[in-house]
Amino acid sequence: MRETAPVGDWATDFDILAPEYLDDPFRIWDELRGTCPVAHTERRGSTWLPTRYQDVVDLAHDIPHFSSADIVVVPFAGEVPDEPVLIFGLPPISADPPLHTWTRRLLLPWFSHTRVASYEAMTRDLCSSLVDSFIADGECDAAGQYAQQIPVRVIASILGVPEEMSDVFTGWVRDVLEFADDTERRTRGIRGLIEYFIEEVERRATEPGNDLLSELLQTEVDGEPIERRLVLGTAALVLIAGVDTTWSAIGSSLWHLATHPEDRHRLVNDPGAWSLGIEELLRAYSPVTMARVVTGDVEFQGCPMKAGDKVLMNFPAANRDPEVFENPDVVDLDRAQNRHVAFGSGIHRCAGSNLARMELRVALEEFLKRIPDFELVDPAQVTWAGGQVRGPRDLRVKF
Ligand code: HEM
Repeated sequence: MRETAPVGDWATDFDILAPEYLDDPFRIWDELRGTCPVAHTERRGSTWLPTRYQDVVDLAHDIPHFSSADIVVVPFAGEVPDEPVLIFGLPPISADPPLHTWTRRLLLPWFSHTRVASYEAMTRDLCSSLVDSFIADGECDAAGQYAQQIPVRVIASILGVPEEMSDVFTGWVRDVLEFADDTERRTRGIRGLIEYFIEEVERRATEPGNDLLSELLQTEVDGEPIERRLVLGTAALVLIAGVDTTWSAIGSSLWHLATHPEDRHRLVNDPGAWSLGIEELLRAYSPVTMARVVTGDVEFQGCPMKAGDKVLMNFPAANRDPEVFENPDVVDLDRAQNRHVAFGSGIHRCAGSNLARMELRVALEEFLKRIPDFELVDPAQVTWAGGQVRGPRDLRVKF
């Protein structure tokens, strides 16, 4: 693990892994929007951090200059020559057109409204049985014992892998996304995932099932089977994209409801408040920051970006921009004007947003149904992960 120097000037030397950024990025974005809306750092390579809504949206739509070939927010420290994900890629998220176009098309049917509706009963049963497991204790870790347990099990069933693997998967995904400065841990996570899927793909080749992995293996594009490395990358992506992200959104929402009793009562008592309410929670606590790599020297908002520079797709900051959202730091469950970009913008917009929304709603509904009143055991004890995906990792609540 690398030690990093404290940040002196956020405009010229920001660090998204600094403790104060993990703790309260909102204040930092506000300050930057007023002084230097596209900040820069040389830490972990030359990287830019936009904080305004329109800038983030413009960047997301400018594919020729800002490629998805490198979407990790923090590059690997040092050399990792045989890093498997660099060989396989994670299409469609790490691909530009034309590869992006058809690999995305393969995934979309799995996350259509109809498919997602068919996963709802299973998700509800899962949430309810998780509540059963701690309700008598009068307290729980709403992140570790609840939020973390949900998306991984739903995705495991979509991919056709055994539920018992869920904790191992969660460990790998966290290794990849949360411990960005720890090369060893990150490599372990990626290796674990890819090696597991290599075995599963071999098995599916002879024993196909009714799942996403089997279907990808049987799909032909232009009369040819899809290359194995693409099947592996896509399977790994579904897991990486669908687990930490949704768990973080569920956890942040539970943190909000634990600390804002008026909003909690509103959701408990007013079923009509849910649809705008869920969008507002997604806006205010957007978990995901992705990255792009600059393809050739270009000036963006007066910033001289060079080929190879990274640009962080700061969707969470865009969603707190006062130019677009009135009182952006206030969670207003009735916010009707809410064109948030929690799921991104443009061609890479989240392919799993229907699933994410369903899981978030069902997880909150089932929790509130059984535990309508809860509060933090100790606000100082809550810990937040940040970097690529922001959400609470230790969230003890009592009821
Ligand atoms: C609250 C939960 C989630 C959030 C906030 C979220 C956010 C995002 C964002 C911001 C992007 C765009 C990335 C970019 O522009 O580079 C994205 C892409 C993607 N997400 Fe999600 N996501 C969530 C849940 C899920 C789930 C449950 C799945 C399904 C397993 C999923 C699958 C994907 C895929 C496949 C892409 C790549 C799409 C493409 O490149 O065309 N996500 N997500």
